[in-house]
Amino acid sequence: MEALRVSPAHSPLLRSQRLQSHLPNGPQKLSTRRPIKPFVSATLSRPTADVSAEPSTSSASFETRTTPSPPPHRVSADSLQYPPGFLGAVPDRTATDGNDNGNIVDAMEYLTNILSSKVYDVAIESPLELATKLSERLGVRVWMKREDLQPVFSFKLRGAYNMMAKLPREQLDRGVICSSAGNHAQGVALAAKKLNCSAVIAMPVTTPEIKWKSVERLGATVVLIGDSYDEAQTYAKKRAQEEGRSFIPPFDHPDVIIGQGTVGMEIMRQTKGPLHAIFVPVGGGGLIAGIAAYVKRVSPKVKIIGVEPSDANAMALSLHHGQRIMLDQVGGFADGVAVKEVGEETFRLCKDMVDGVVLVSRDAICGSIKDMFEETRSILEPAGALALAGAEAYCKYYGLKGENVVAITSGANMNFDKLRVVTELANVGRQQEAVLATIMPEEPGSFKHYCELVGPMNISEFKYRYNSDKQAVVLYSVGVHTASELKEMQERLESCRLKTYNLTKSDLVKDHLRYLMGGRSNVQNEVLCHFVFPERPGALMKFLDAFSPRWNISLFHYRGQGETGANVLVGIQVARGDIDEFQARAGSLGYDYAVVTDNDEFNLLMH
Ligand SMILES: Cc1ncc(COP(=O)(O)O)c(C=O)c1O
Repeated sequence: MEALRVSPAHSPLLRSQRLQSHLPNGPQKLSTRRPIKPFVSATLSRPTADVSAEPSTSSASFETRTTPSPPPHRVSADSLQYPPGFLGAVPDRTATDGNDNGNIVDAMEYLTNILSSKVYDVAIESPLELATKLSERLGVRVWMKREDLQPVFSFKLRGAYNMMAKLPREQLDRGVICSSAGNHAQGVALAAKKLNCSAVIAMPVTTPEIKWKSVERLGATVVLIGDSYDEAQTYAKKRAQEEGRSFIPPFDHPDVIIGQGTVGMEIMRQTKGPLHAIFVPVGGGGLIAGIAAYVKRVSPKVKIIGVEPSDANAMALSLHHGQRIMLDQVGGFADGVAVKEVGEETFRLCKDMVDGVVLVSRDAICGSIKDMFEETRSILEPAGALALAGAEAYCKYYGLKGENVVAITSGANMNFDKLRVVTELANVGRQQEAVLATIMPEEPGSFKHYCELVGPMNISEFKYRYNSDKQAVVLYSVGVHTASELKEMQERLESCRLKTYNLTKSDLVKDHLRYLMGGRSNVQNEVLCHFVFPERPGALMKFLDAFSPRWNISLFHYRGQGETGANVLVGIQVARGDIDEFQARAGSLGYDYAVVTDNDEFNLLMH
């Protein structure tokens, strides 16, 4: 609830967020809340000049590449969507990128460096375990590479340690620095402890206390700075220059990629039979690039498949366009992979070696967290469960049977507050629960009639409130065992003229409207907006300063999800003539937002 805490005075460390100030035409569509459209409408928009890319510093052992890459184009996550499990973004290997061979790092060099990496000073060789229940369900042997069992509960220490262990002692003595709100921070802190050097970790002020405290406990100095990762990174790079510290990037460096590549080496040692594919969660691309660099050399037939959330698909879009792009907005649920732009070196390797990318929904990720809990009693963080969700969706989509597939369970640093959302969505994600609305006449006996028609289905949630003397809308969830029983129930209701809508896929319903049911009314000139508030004190007051008392706020629903950005649904009464002024004020606020006034579910449930 940080976003709703009103801070009496802003901390000097707080800076205003600039997420949207560069966007030309007011509100942008929020990528998180869109229905999945079939296939692709991806086009490139204008190049980005205002946000610098992570520079690719070459490792001492690799040749320096000289060709500077063009500035990335901005695109929306929505512009490339395909059904869950479909293998999209398959790189076009016939295209050339203008790099001459002299500039291309030899993949063999990656292989030999991975083989001689020293990550085992800090990392364990994580087990490769069979997911027995999931395997039975799918008819495929699904192996989990348990990177969630690493000392800091994710694979990230491999890359950080590998890079730091290669630094000369004099450089280590000047210390290291990185920017991260997550697992990379812990990896660098642990590696610094092991190598006996000082580490500064710059984290956005929005970082949950549990995360920065655990970094501090490892002996690193934490600096909370800026509202966003970009601001923390700018600070870290500046301080690196000023103090001569070595900057340790989270993914875009050959030595980091090599460290992550040791995961691929272990998988190839640990598997017995032939492997169909390895599913890898993708953020900036360090893990998948490292795994591909090893596996494609020793066993080129094994598919290396990236998995991304459908609202954080920077790698899929980059592979699709054949060049790195920058997402205009990125979904934050799987915070470990919420990256707007993949690395330069990671992209170069992925373009050559990755077989494609599978996209999965937030619900499916929650379903896989539950699967993992049922298999092992362990709780994965969303990014950690991503590959499992991708593997399951892929096996179902292609009807794969009898094969061996590996999914990297990459991390277990779960923000406890997120568990509430996970438990709410897990059954939907496993297609075991559906969210529906039925319109029924407001007359005695209709509720009983409705219950008879629902029949044996188990109702897990039911919302009804008297609204008009003609008809009522009820919102409810039912447990589902088979798709046909849901269809049959809908047919029973419809045949008695009880119009029924399946709202299971609507994030607006699942995040907000199901909690607002009962307050239906026609509010004049109501503009409905979905805002993402930064989770920090004063965020609400800043929002209110922008709109109140100029306009009346007619609806407000906040839903904390344990993310750095809080989901807020707002209704504001804005007369037609004031829309331009409203957009200008909303834009200058600097919070991501989308206008959703015409949303069908909103009109069904709230008007
Ligand atoms: C748990 C987890 N999984 C996957 C990733 C993605 O790794 P990469 O950025 O190397 O693609 C991260 C990145 O921090 C992570 O923390």
